[in-house]
Amino acid sequence: MSNKQKRKLRSQDWFGGSDKGGFIHRSWTKNQGFPNHLFDGRPVIGICNTWSELTPCNAHFRLIADCVKRGIYEAGGFPLEFPVMSLGEPLMRPTAMLFRNLASMDVEESIRANPIDGVALLVGCDKTTPACLMGASSCDLPTIAISGGPMLNGKFRGEDIGSGTAVWKYSEDVRSGAMPMCDFLEAESCMSRSAGHCMTMGTASTMASIVEALGIGLPMNAAIPAVDSRRYALAHMAGRRIVEMVNEDLSISKILTRRAFENAVRVVGAIGGSTNAVIHLLALAGRLGVDFKLDDWDRLGRNVPCLVNLMPSGKYLMEDFYYAGGLRALMSEMRDLLKLDCRTVNGQTLGENLSEAKLINPEVIRPRANPIATSGGTAILRGNLAPDGAVIKTSAATPRLLNHTGPAIVFKNYQELEARIDRSDLPVTEDSVLVLQSAGPLGAPGMPEWGMMPIPKKLLDKGVRDLVRISDARMSGTAYGTCVLHVSPESHVGGPLALVEEGDLIRLDAEGRRLDLLVSDEELSARRARWTKPTARYDRGYGALYLERVTQANEGCDFDFLSRAAGTGEPEIH
Ligand code: FES
Repeated sequence: MSNKQKRKLRSQDWFGGSDKGGFIHRSWTKNQGFPNHLFDGRPVIGICNTWSELTPCNAHFRLIADCVKRGIYEAGGFPLEFPVMSLGEPLMRPTAMLFRNLASMDVEESIRANPIDGVALLVGCDKTTPACLMGASSCDLPTIAISGGPMLNGKFRGEDIGSGTAVWKYSEDVRSGAMPMCDFLEAESCMSRSAGHCMTMGTASTMASIVEALGIGLPMNAAIPAVDSRRYALAHMAGRRIVEMVNEDLSISKILTRRAFENAVRVVGAIGGSTNAVIHLLALAGRLGVDFKLDDWDRLGRNVPCLVNLMPSGKYLMEDFYYAGGLRALMSEMRDLLKLDCRTVNGQTLGENLSEAKLINPEVIRPRANPIATSGGTAILRGNLAPDGAVIKTSAATPRLLNHTGPAIVFKNYQELEARIDRSDLPVTEDSVLVLQSAGPLGAPGMPEWGMMPIPKKLLDKGVRDLVRISDARMSGTAYGTCVLHVSPESHVGGPLALVEEGDLIRLDAEGRRLDLLVSDEELSARRARWTKPTARYDRGYGALYLERVTQANEGCDFDFLSRAAGTGEPEIH
């Protein structure tokens, strides 16, 4: 049967010619053993692979790519796999976030420069998902995302332990003397015991859920464990589907609409998802020209109950979430809050996809009448300490601290934090508010996940496990605590956070969405006059480009020259 398309596809500009160019494009590609018929005008599908042994969460992606290829061939397409920069959260320094935009540029330019008609994005570890979605959005070809899936539940001495979340808890226990070092070291082997990404509802699981909620991944994409055979069947089906999407000309911008973003925000609220999603979705919307701003988070997510009982907000892990029915069952529980008419990559609407949902375990996925928290949404704060906004994940905070006034303990940077935090003369009490400066997009730089500052040892010894903590940093999606994050503008550019001094009173009112520094305007003006801009960390290479063009957290930390919908256009042929 002929696979020739009625519509001339983009790849035919390379493979369809009968001239010198056509010869070159086909001939060199054939050195891999591809027969003539694969160049007959069928959809060429790029498999954009973030595989890397330096990204442990994505280290199984060559197996996933093989399954996607099977599906592509089966549906009459021609798969060509290509590597892009991978971003491994546990190993990259100073932080993988510094390189998200670089990876997205790699994805964008790799797609645009090559004979590709549709793209399958293999995504997993935190930043690989937004980087790939952002890059692909700037090209606007038919696109499907396949998440790599979470690790199996960690198991330590009969207890389920979660990626990240257990590390934070155990490291505090070691510091307070409640856990011996030998147990701590044993736990590290027990936590990461299979392929896959963090199995808590951290950033990777949040982004995988967003992929499904946006409709850019197939139903059940979010939760199937990485080593479950059904993850590989899903990859196979995604390969089949991306070929059909090319034939239907179902480009990414037809899926990632404003209404799809609204669904994603509400789903993030219902899963108690990572605050990192705020930054990534703002950046993604910017690439697509979708009108979606920081305050939309608060408005859309404010009354969404947290229904998923997963760490760090709850008790269970992603494996349990899958067995309980997965994201489809959760979305079915909140149908009234979703735009059910949104198109998804399988050709059906979100509402049609939810018709097959089954809630198996109401302890893991709570019914609406029995939520984990009445609001799981990320609250957006404003006030004289954060004129352009700050975020707090209320479901991971201590309720009594959500309305709190206390004196500041100020750390000028992370190095000072490390040097002072456990000193016996640190003037900290359980009413104190820890403030970290120089941790934002430009200040750190790269906005590392330093926002969950450690509790000072003298308070740990008294049993204190949470304090109000404020910074221009991010926080790991697996972390918890009353942490105000993403304060904008950041201290490095002279935002009010730079003016906070030790002992200043700070008031957090999460319900009222306020964050205020209780210092007079006159005093703040005097401090501003004394403030001097810090020197830039990089003066060459990618770092210098980053410092010159990155936007603030309230705008998604994308490069200013990338956040626009107008396409670059097709490359010229020489
Ligand atoms: Fe890769 Fe958590 S470290 S997902």
